[in-house]
Amino acid sequence: MAAVTRDQIMAALAAVDSGTGGMDVTARGWVKDILIKDGHVTFTLEVPAQLGPKLEPVRAAAEKAVTALPGVISVTAVLTAAAAAAQATPQQKGGASKLELTGVRFVVAVASGKGGVGKSTTAANLAFALAGQGHKVAIFDADIFGPSMPRMLGLAGKKPSSDGKRVQPLVSHGVKVMSIGFMIAEDDPIIWRGPMVMGALEQMLRDVDWGELDVMVIDMPPGTGDTQLTISQRVPLAGAVIVSTPQDIALLDARKGLNMFRKVEVPILGIIENMSYYVCPKCGNREDIFDHGGAHRTADKFEAEFLGEIPLDIKIRETSDGGHPIVVAEPDGPHAKAYGVIAARLWEKLNGAQRKAPKISLGNLFKR
Ligand SMILES: Nc1ncnc2c1ncn2[C@@H]1O[C@H](COP(=O)(O)OP(=O)(O)O)[C@@H](O)[C@H]1O
Ligand SMILES: [Mg+2]
Repeated sequence: MAAVTRDQIMAALAAVDSGTGGMDVTARGWVKDILIKDGHVTFTLEVPAQLGPKLEPVRAAAEKAVTALPGVISVTAVLTAAAAAAQATPQQKGGASKLELTGVRFVVAVASGKGGVGKSTTAANLAFALAGQGHKVAIFDADIFGPSMPRMLGLAGKKPSSDGKRVQPLVSHGVKVMSIGFMIAEDDPIIWRGPMVMGALEQMLRDVDWGELDVMVIDMPPGTGDTQLTISQRVPLAGAVIVSTPQDIALLDARKGLNMFRKVEVPILGIIENMSYYVCPKCGNREDIFDHGGAHRTADKFEAEFLGEIPLDIKIRETSDGGHPIVVAEPDGPHAKAYGVIAARLWEKLNGAQRKAPKISLGNLFKR
């Protein structure tokens, strides 16, 4: 009989409900360390620590599903606590544990070393591009110093509704939106101290009824200070996307951003060069106003993926500032296509990272 494969095992496990809001155990990313030897299979279900005791039936169902596969002689599934394991890592030593975002598959931070490079514009357009590709998407505006989503998404002055327990996010073109900007007036100065800021952000993440999401895009505050570091530590990020303009100075800041995420062991999903070049709408002549290609070179140097480039175009600014980012304003235009290509690449990376063969740590089980 043909030996059972890893793919067959994953396919069987994709039919096993996680018991937490309708997603299967593979979609939750719980399946780790699959090991196959002569028809004997072991794997780990790495689950949030506090759920552990409740998930014994899920573990048993997972074992049963794999046992049913042809070529399988025995199956051992082990429940392990993800949060407990994570607490042992160096970045967790400060006592910060990760927030639970049940139902959210991937959280992606869109970050930049400095402000004004088009981080929010990129975050919004990427979110809409992902939604256009059929994913369930939310934008979380964590830029407490200058929240721009209310205005950029045409939601200025609106307030999310609440039943006293859960807050319903606002929706813009099919994308759920939450912003600190909904809580404060647009021109209020925000001079908050770090802990207050974190309290407000955590409350927004926890109390909002996000529902099932494929991707939550977080528009991060610019820079690499304490707030950014804390968010990176507290929010269960699948990874970070760095936005940079091509000039040296912006790149220097982007490098700082890269290093910050590396320090807290958040994977860098890639770098996007914004305002990469300019095409004259009248004559079609292309100009590299802020130089060109710097982000690509930085990405190569830091072994991060270069996700793509977006030109400097007045339409991108006008649509963004007018509350309808270019991807929804002109979904068939060249800019929407450029964001679409980057979004597809990003999705592939997110999904690929989850499916990638995990490192094997149960090898001793099979030693005789
Ligand atoms: N590719 C682009 N072409 C033209 N204008 C852009 C582009 N990207 C961003 N902008 C404009 O630049 C300004 C700053 O962008 P924003 O996304 O708010 O930056 P950040 O969030 O990094 O501070 C905004 O007015 C925005 O409309
Ligand atoms: Mg911004």
